Amino acid sequence: MPPTRIVQLATTILEHTQKVDSYLAVENIPTPSFEISCPPRLALPASIQESQHAVVEASDELMALMLGPAASLTALHPHNSWTSLQAIQRLGIANSFSPSTTSTFSAIAQACSQSESDIRRLLRHAMTYFIFQEPSPGIVAHTASSKALAEIPQLGQLVGFMSSELWPSATRLVDALEKWPQSEEPNETGYSIAYSTDKPMFEFLAQYPERAQRMAKAMSFMNSGPGYSPRHILENFDWGDAANGLLVDVGGGQGIVAIEIARHFPRIKCIVQDLPEVIEGVSVPDDLAKDGRLMLMPHDFFQEQVVKGADVYYLRWILHDWSDKYATEIIRQLVPALKRGARILVSELCLPDPCVLSRYKERHARNFDISMKQIQNSKERDATDWAQLFAAVDMRFQFGVNWTQGKARIIKTIAMALNSTATALLRSEDEAALATKNSEDATHAREYLSEEEAARKQWVSLNSSGTTTVRGDGISTVNPGKGETIMMKTFSTE
Ligand SMILES: C[S@@+](CC[C@H](N)C(=O)[O-])C[C@H]1O[C@@H](n2cnc3c(N)ncnc32)[C@H](O)[C@@H]1O
Repeated sequence: MPPTRIVQLATTILEHTQKVDSYLAVENIPTPSFEISCPPRLALPASIQESQHAVVEASDELMALMLGPAASLTALHPHNSWTSLQAIQRLGIANSFSPSTTSTFSAIAQACSQSESDIRRLLRHAMTYFIFQEPSPGIVAHTASSKALAEIPQLGQLVGFMSSELWPSATRLVDALEKWPQSEEPNETGYSIAYSTDKPMFEFLAQYPERAQRMAKAMSFMNSGPGYSPRHILENFDWGDAANGLLVDVGGGQGIVAIEIARHFPRIKCIVQDLPEVIEGVSVPDDLAKDGRLMLMPHDFFQEQVVKGADVYYLRWILHDWSDKYATEIIRQLVPALKRGARILVSELCLPDPCVLSRYKERHARNFDISMKQIQNSKERDATDWAQLFAAVDMRFQFGVNWTQGKARIIKTIAMALNSTATALLRSEDEAALATKNSEDATHAREYLSEEEAARKQWVSLNSSGTTTVRGDGISTVNPGKGETIMMKTFSTE
């Protein structure tokens, strides 16, 4: 008789835990623990990460099965899971005593001007999540997690942003749906209700510089993950002549990514556009200031693009902030500026199709999507959503998928998937490619091809028109065996 699902899962956990364990032993890396000597991140090579993820995913499913249907509904969604963490972060408890010493509930209570009883209750709750420990009655000691909170300020900013901006919005999302059904407005959200404001979150936060700064730091901490590295577009986008041309980074913030692009390609010129208050007082690094290699320009992306004829218009983490109503407007404002062969390059999350990733990984991506709904009435988009968004602006935009192959690339893209990011690339095609593309069935874009098939099959289009003058292609990788997928998509004009 084949083993039951729960035994299969337990076996997976054992086998893959042993692989991780052997690697750690060979490399002389301490085994994971909650002790303060444990480093905040378990850095593993890609091959061992596969085992790490297998253990986490199998544990996730096994826990749900072992709890049973009724208990798992509540036990897997404890509504209080953020309460003690929010208290620890907001009251500065992690920093109230050094990780190398211990403290007491009463000393911590005094340091945070709270009652000893409340601090004891909150910390004992947190301890069930391995945040702090009580080595002997009344004595509080750090664990690896509380120490990480104390010693990595940006992690504290991220926890603060999640617990004090996202979590309250999450609790009011359904209220917002009931109050403003089908709204696409950024000021009719769970966030609006949670903070009793009629301003969109970004505008509302601008009134509270400390909170706005906390969000900016939290975002830059998230952005420091490997999946968000600009190297993905530097290495994977087919830059061609654009490497010597002009790139406009639309909503490019203070130019951090454009600076990397400009330093990578010695002849490219970059213009970074953002709202005046964002770029005010920001200076261009000396090495890029000469010859106008990088310039900052105030520009509202809801107004017509003023830089005409650039080779690439780059939208990095822009469109996911906006519902379709507004995202289409941002794209529409670019169209009059697009010269023949210009490309629109988009770096965004591409939501996986259902059941392609493990539930554990898919949950991560879906969390991003729901968060965007809670705070902006915006969304993360899947491949079809992306195609439809561009088609809604101009049917001449073409969307296609180019399945690529090769272990190295697949491993790399898995790493990107784990970090919930993908890159959408917009580029142009030649006539022959267009003819082939038009003959393909759009639904093929949803197929999960084997690596061998992927090597043969170049791309599939979702939109085509006999008189098309604007077109594009795409790159996507898929690893059917592992159920991982990540996409790089292109659109373009010509
Ligand atoms: C999520 S951030 C992305 C920043 C940058 N592209 C990056 O990847 O780091 C969104 C950016 O859009 C900018 N933004 C918001 N509304 C804008 C508008 N109407 N016109 C131009 N930029 C805007 C914000 O100031 C912010 O820098």
